[in-house]
Amino acid sequence: MATTHDFVIAPGGQLTGRIRIPGDKSICHRALLLGAIAKGTIHISNFLESADCIATLSCLQMLGVKIERTRPNCVTIEGVGVHGLQAPIRELDCGNSGTSLRLLAGLLAGQPFESVLTGDASLRSRPMLRIIEPLTRMGAVIHSMSGFAPLAIHGQRPLTPLRYAIPIASAQVKSSLLLAGLQADGETWLMEPAKTRDHTERMLQTFGCTVLHDGEWLGICGGNTLSAAAIAVPGDLSSAAFFITAAAGQPTAHIIIEGIGVNPSRKGVLHVLQAMGADIRLLDEQMLGNEPVADVEVHGGNLRSVDIGPEMVPFVIDELPALLIAAASAHGVTTLRGASELRVKESDRLQAMATGLRTLGVEVELWDDGMRVTGRKDFRGGVVDSFGDHRIAMAFAIAGLRTHSTLRIRDCRNVDTSFPGFANLARSVGLCIDVREMPNT
Ligand code: S3P
Repeated sequence: MATTHDFVIAPGGQLTGRIRIPGDKSICHRALLLGAIAKGTIHISNFLESADCIATLSCLQMLGVKIERTRPNCVTIEGVGVHGLQAPIRELDCGNSGTSLRLLAGLLAGQPFESVLTGDASLRSRPMLRIIEPLTRMGAVIHSMSGFAPLAIHGQRPLTPLRYAIPIASAQVKSSLLLAGLQADGETWLMEPAKTRDHTERMLQTFGCTVLHDGEWLGICGGNTLSAAAIAVPGDLSSAAFFITAAAGQPTAHIIIEGIGVNPSRKGVLHVLQAMGADIRLLDEQMLGNEPVADVEVHGGNLRSVDIGPEMVPFVIDELPALLIAAASAHGVTTLRGASELRVKESDRLQAMATGLRTLGVEVELWDDGMRVTGRKDFRGGVVDSFGDHRIAMAFAIAGLRTHSTLRIRDCRNVDTSFPGFANLARSVGLCIDVREMPNT
């Protein structure tokens, strides 16, 4: 019989403890991709062994790159250089991972062979014209299913340099075009409508490649050679966000999360929670390679509502599900605007959050680009669907701290795409969570 992997959360959890969180997903994808086209041996430590990162790793192996998992959470890559990739003999399956597919597309756009990128049903329903259009302008020939994956890419070497104002705030698009720009015959210049996470730029520098700046424009010169470097991956703030948010809104809570990446382009979740009245401190701030890290300490309290506007959205794009749970338990009415990108993530996250919050008894007005959420003291239990989306599943898991009866969250298997071990770690800090295989009724 078909089963679904559900989280079952009993009321009464109290959060306390000191924990570490697995490595940053965005940084791991980039370490693999840039490591593969660098020259020499690259060691990655605190590597995130999640399904998404393994998808990137397997695709690169199919492209002829030798990558070994030497110890748990440690990976060694024998970088082949940008001209050392080989044509894959099968389709490259990116699973659930938009970052894998969009960044690989930029890399493959400059390779003189044919490759096909595909993924699961969710990934095949996510928009790809945002990369197809500029990569085509650079000379790649890309066939898609009307703008959706599978993408058949016939690369061009060298690519034509591009000067391009990216229409959507997207680090995936920016990074895809930087990878293509590395393989262009001249300088490629990009402008973002709003600043997005800059891990690609930082890691290019770590590998010895100059990233150019001219006012609002970001540039890369084709033909740069990347040289091997060791990459130590910080803990993932987007995963830590579930614990930070949960603790911030529970007056008895006190947690410390060690070694978390606090890159300014990712830190928006801390700023929004602080604006809601949360007591969050960064301890022992330091640089880990080219990325800032810190221990994050949270003393729980009562939160108040906040207005999250379009200017803030790129800085909290992955943390909005958790923040909407905080809003639902805060005093007052929270608004979120300018977040239509949430509709094209692993699920339609605005719809998924609105549906689940209503099940919990929360008053929600759903808009095209956001929602209005009226906070309440506690939630009803019941059954909430994650829509197969890891961040929706984890957001509702922390809502389970506030329900007055059991909460069951359906279809949580995809939590492994970003946060393997989430349920065990959550249990270790006090969430009453069980994982159950349930009949798929
Ligand atoms: C990511 C960028 C973001 C984010 C995703 C990871 C990345 O997507 O939502 O989880 O690693 O570049 P967009 O750039 O499409 O907003």
